[in-house]
Amino acid sequence: MDRFEIIGPNRLQGTIRAAGAKNAALPALTAALLAEGTVELSGLPAVQDIRTMVRLLEHLGAEVESSGHTLAVTSSGKPVADDADYALVKTMRASVLVLGPLVARLGHARVSLPGGCAIGVRPIDQHLAGLEALGAEVTLEHGYVTARADRLVGNRFKFAGRTVTGTENLLMAATLARGTTVLDNCAREPEVVDLARLLTAMGARIRGAGEDRIEIQGVDSLGGASHRVIADRIEGGTYLLAAAITGGDVVLEDCAPGDLAALLEVLERAGCAVDVRPTAVRVSAAGPLAAHSIETAPHPGFPTDLQAQYMALMTQAQGRSSIHETVFENRFQHAPELVRMGAAIQVDGGYAWVEGPAPLSGAHVMATDLRASACLVLAGLVAEGRTVVHRIYHLDRGYEGMEEKLRGLGARVERASE
Ligand code: EPU
Repeated sequence: MDRFEIIGPNRLQGTIRAAGAKNAALPALTAALLAEGTVELSGLPAVQDIRTMVRLLEHLGAEVESSGHTLAVTSSGKPVADDADYALVKTMRASVLVLGPLVARLGHARVSLPGGCAIGVRPIDQHLAGLEALGAEVTLEHGYVTARADRLVGNRFKFAGRTVTGTENLLMAATLARGTTVLDNCAREPEVVDLARLLTAMGARIRGAGEDRIEIQGVDSLGGASHRVIADRIEGGTYLLAAAITGGDVVLEDCAPGDLAALLEVLERAGCAVDVRPTAVRVSAAGPLAAHSIETAPHPGFPTDLQAQYMALMTQAQGRSSIHETVFENRFQHAPELVRMGAAIQVDGGYAWVEGPAPLSGAHVMATDLRASACLVLAGLVAEGRTVVHRIYHLDRGYEGMEEKLRGLGARVERASE
């Protein structure tokens, strides 16, 4: 197990690029299961979740050739297996994204139920209800979901709540269904739009991705395609927050500033200078930071995946801010670790109140999930002295070479083995 050792305080300065978006790459990889040709995906991030997904695809009989940040996935002929077992699914919830493609392509799928995770219960009831609406017979047994359908049939389905991977699963399943599917109350995340672009390049007929209603006209088969995944707005946003918390000045290049709008607005309100260019954003924080309250929400709201990092920022802002987490019920595990570093935070249910500015001092802290780990790294950057962030494997699931990128911006961060 690796750890990060950070000597603070640091001031970050320079230019940075985000890797390809993990949460766009994962559904794109499973979409390849739908194609009769080869799907070539470029710009993929070199992170653990992608390696896990490749193992799952290979288990399902797909051939995966890799070259740098590009993967070519071929699953022509029928995949040899239809099951995603517990060992893989428990390490990565996104494994559930094979469900839609497998039922659509093979007529059957068996996927381990993901169960709880560090940030909440996270059921998949909406994925299953949607597949049932398309005519699949869904059963739950021995911790596995089995879905069967000779051929899925287009239908109308309204998600009870917005779900990102649920929308992606249904979108993929509907591409090969007979007739038209209309999905309402869809997730509008840029990653959903990116998946629709890939599916369209494969021959799918989709209208409305990125909006509340998506219409899919089923086709008989899908072919290969080449696709470059979008830049990771959460990774990029994390570095902009790192610039802000360290009183730094960072330019994030090759990004889609519109996808970061909620964060950029909040950073401005917190006292940062934000300069938006067509494909880049510069954030600098010369003066004192001001407390500003937020509430997480599905896109285009403030992303839950940046909430932990924002909490680190608020420990350094003047005044009292509240952070309302509305997407996941248990996503404040970073708060007690920040308190151990000297932060003043009170948590009550879905709310956290942060009183700042609190001088942070280096400490041993433990990461519990991906974004909580990023939050602790940000706190370590600004803390006085040595911070050791343990269990960096969480971070490695979604951040490519974070220590090198931070060093490139002038931070003193080293990776060490436990
Ligand atoms: N939900 C249900 N029923 C469902 C599906 C979801 O009740 O059938 C609930 C969840 O429990 C949660 C809310 O709906 O309270 C939203 O969950 P969603 O399904 O949107 O989350 P997800 O698709 O499992 C993706 C990202 C997460 C990100 C969330 C929210 C991927 C692979 N994962 O998860 O990313 O936090 O959307 O934006 O796309 C991360 O990268 O660190 C991460 C956790």
